[in-house]
Amino acid sequence: MKYLFSLVFFLFLHALADAKIVMTPYLQSVTQTSVYVLVECDNSAQVTVMYGLTPEYGLMARTEIAEATTAKRTTYVHKVLLQGLMPGSRYYYQATQGKSISKVAAFSTAVLQGMPFRMVWMADCRTGTAVFAKISRNMVAADPAVALYGGDLCHSAKYAVWKKEFFIKDQLKLASQVPFFNATGNHEGWEQNTRAFMQNPSSGSRTQDYYSFDYGDLHVLCLNTMVPYAPGTPQFEFAKKDLEQTRQTWKIVMAHIPAYCSGGHGEDAGMVTMTKKIFEPNKVDMVLAGHSHFYQNNLVRGIHHLVIGSAGAPLYTPQAAAYTVTQAFDYNFAVFDVSTATLKMRVYNAELKVLDSLEIAK
Ligand SMILES: [Fe+2]
Repeated sequence: MKYLFSLVFFLFLHALADAKIVMTPYLQSVTQTSVYVLVECDNSAQVTVMYGLTPEYGLMARTEIAEATTAKRTTYVHKVLLQGLMPGSRYYYQATQGKSISKVAAFSTAVLQGMPFRMVWMADCRTGTAVFAKISRNMVAADPAVALYGGDLCHSAKYAVWKKEFFIKDQLKLASQVPFFNATGNHEGWEQNTRAFMQNPSSGSRTQDYYSFDYGDLHVLCLNTMVPYAPGTPQFEFAKKDLEQTRQTWKIVMAHIPAYCSGGHGEDAGMVTMTKKIFEPNKVDMVLAGHSHFYQNNLVRGIHHLVIGSAGAPLYTPQAAAYTVTQAFDYNFAVFDVSTATLKMRVYNAELKVLDSLEIAK
């Protein structure tokens, strides 16, 4: 019996020693005092993340939940919540599992109200990995504090497709230092791998399906157009309550499918209904979306409906509608500078040519 116990214990230690982190850890759901580190491993044994204001760390957190992917040899995405952070501060972190240790990386927590910050947006990278690599490098160079992604991060829900198209080296470099939020697209779908690879903020929605968060003076409502959003659905009611309650200076709605769009997939009746019933009465400043693979700024009854889609996916031809202010047939991503007084946006192509710029003042 004693021998058997020793053998089991030995095998356990051996398995732990062999346990491995299989991908660069990345960041999600940042707040002023916390962030999630997502660490994909080839097993479910606990991951430890050391963190602190210097590479000496001083703080430690462990796996909160490990979610299985559909990889042939199952992998587990460990979600580790770092807490007790200071707002607008830079933190270092490093993950370990057994003998496997990730590289040291650093990120910034969300700034306090009244403090300016920079964020980036991209959507629909999918199969265009060469363009996406370039755009990822450009986003790193823009030095944002946070990133918003508009979905269709890969062309299908399959594990191998996620790895080949979204989790490429240049994107992982960005995501290891800039926490991102994603609005689920129709291609990755709201499926097992998407749920495993994403950790959305806990918010008033009490679900991972859709959510909202604050960052500095900005309030962001992130819709999931893969989950019903017609009037009367839980998502519609959450969106309504959420935008009625926020007192933040700036209000942005992000979703994969745009309300107003001309060319490509065109308008979406459900999002138009949401716009009229929720976004307009609550004075939303911008609706950010992708899905149609071009750039288009549509100004409808005071709200900028921006289609900033294709950080790699095959381009569509935009067709200007009466509400279209500007448009471009090109790959694109956007950089936003947010302060209490102004919301500035610049849209670039993959070669950093400026496609459009916009400034809204309060
Ligand atoms: Fe799409």
